[in-house]
Amino acid sequence: MSMENENITHRKLTTASGRPYAEHENTQSVGSRGPLLLQDFILHEKMAHFNRERIPERVVHAKGSGAYGTFKVTHDITRYTKAKIFSEIGKSCRIFLRFSTVGGEKGSSDAERDPRGFALKFYTEDGNWDLVGNNTPVFFVKDPKKFSDFIHTQKRDPRTNLKSPTMMWDFWSLNPESLHQVMILMSDRGTPLTYRHMDGFGSHTYSMINAENERVWVKFHFKTQQGIKNLDAAQASQMHAVDMDHAQRDLVEAIDNKEFPKWTLKIQVMTEAEAKSFRWNPFDLTKIWPHAEFPLIEVGEIELNQLPNNYFAHVEQAAFAPSNLVDGIGFSPDRMLQGRILSYADAQRYRLGINYEQIPVNRCPFMVNNFHRDGQMRIDENGNDDPNYFPNSFGDVVPDQAYKEPAWELDSNVADWYDRNAGEGDNDHFTQPGDLYRKVLSTEDRKHLVNNIVGSMNGINGPRRMQIINLQLCHFFRADIQLGMAIAKGLGVDVEQAMSSRH
Ligand code: HEM
Repeated sequence: MSMENENITHRKLTTASGRPYAEHENTQSVGSRGPLLLQDFILHEKMAHFNRERIPERVVHAKGSGAYGTFKVTHDITRYTKAKIFSEIGKSCRIFLRFSTVGGEKGSSDAERDPRGFALKFYTEDGNWDLVGNNTPVFFVKDPKKFSDFIHTQKRDPRTNLKSPTMMWDFWSLNPESLHQVMILMSDRGTPLTYRHMDGFGSHTYSMINAENERVWVKFHFKTQQGIKNLDAAQASQMHAVDMDHAQRDLVEAIDNKEFPKWTLKIQVMTEAEAKSFRWNPFDLTKIWPHAEFPLIEVGEIELNQLPNNYFAHVEQAAFAPSNLVDGIGFSPDRMLQGRILSYADAQRYRLGINYEQIPVNRCPFMVNNFHRDGQMRIDENGNDDPNYFPNSFGDVVPDQAYKEPAWELDSNVADWYDRNAGEGDNDHFTQPGDLYRKVLSTEDRKHLVNNIVGSMNGINGPRRMQIINLQLCHFFRADIQLGMAIAKGLGVDVEQAMSSRH
């Protein structure tokens, strides 16, 4: 029953165990003015449950908004994949989408400069497929071992408990592969107008496998049908001041008003042969695949059309994991994707408990048959009296060999580390950010980019300030001389003097 529904039919108030009771507001006492009685278990139940209301927030992407909707196939891609979700034009599938910011806490502002999460759950008949992406096609680092260090720089300084531009730029300047994502973040795309006005990306390279068991590499793109709209820095700080939850509010209002937001799903496809001879590692998450060489292929459309009626139950308890793939869609050697295969389910076992896949928003609505049993908060039939071991001579739950993936061809040695093995082009962290500056951003966008970078880098302080600034300036110069000069000028750095002091 919604709080907005006026036709109320009364239901009895009960304890958690279902016993109706009469007194909800006054605790039993010795006489009307005396001390309280220990036997008032209603008081205990209320206080105890309240004390346990908070669960750990997500270690990243803590602030978010979510809604249910549908995915519909509009174009045939069965030549690439046998995934049942794509089996015919017109087929539709229920979805849940959660948007988020990354670095802030659960109570932080929706207007923060940050990438935005774009996490999708497709409830397919072959199991839930999670595509846990962002609103950008690239990421700051390309090795999962760097992820926790990077995220620490986005959180609070251990001493001041404040966000620290010094930590951020120190890390970015020492990890030049971050430049591409840093430039996107520092442009106005770092502060989207709302969640409806941004694209989504699977970001990683995944694979698709067709009915003949042939594999191609793919990237997923979700193009907003609402148009890309951003806040500039002044608008973002104004928004921050007046409404910390503006993106949540926008999503609720749009769906309540039946203005259902939509995105077009497109893919890029690379064959295995093309990947082998490509100019750089096509599984490098800091680089995009040029659209001219790998054009976008239209697949379908997603629409958000139903707000969950309880935020905590559905949005807070939602658990997305890059390891949740379905038959016909597979992993790739992208090192970051490989790292994420471990991380998410591990985080969710801690955040929500071992049986988190049984929570309605996460539960596969089709079939779940396995030999997992027991554990905290087991809320289904726990396998009834079916055998709880395999192999067995009694049950009907068996692995189906039809779901076996074709093997990957690998040419490598054990214990090769990335940089040592990097081919030509792999360590070029500058060409694509330079192209972004020169070819994608408008004159206005470039001006904002420079101002945003200067504003942020001006926050670097402490004894290493100039060292960090000079190193980061080198990265900007390598991307584009004009960009480097504009930022140096904004920061009041005399480039010639800085260069001569380095030699
Ligand atoms: C090795 C790299 C990464 C690691 C170890 C990592 C780890 C995590 C963890 C532990 C969570 C919280 C999960 C939860 O409690 O439910 C999370 C959330 C998230 N991550 Fe990552 N992450 C990585 C990279 C990325 C990348 C590259 C993207 C986007 C392309 C991304 C997008 C997201 C999103 C959207 C969420 C929020 C999901 C939701 O709405 O519940 N992460 N990440």
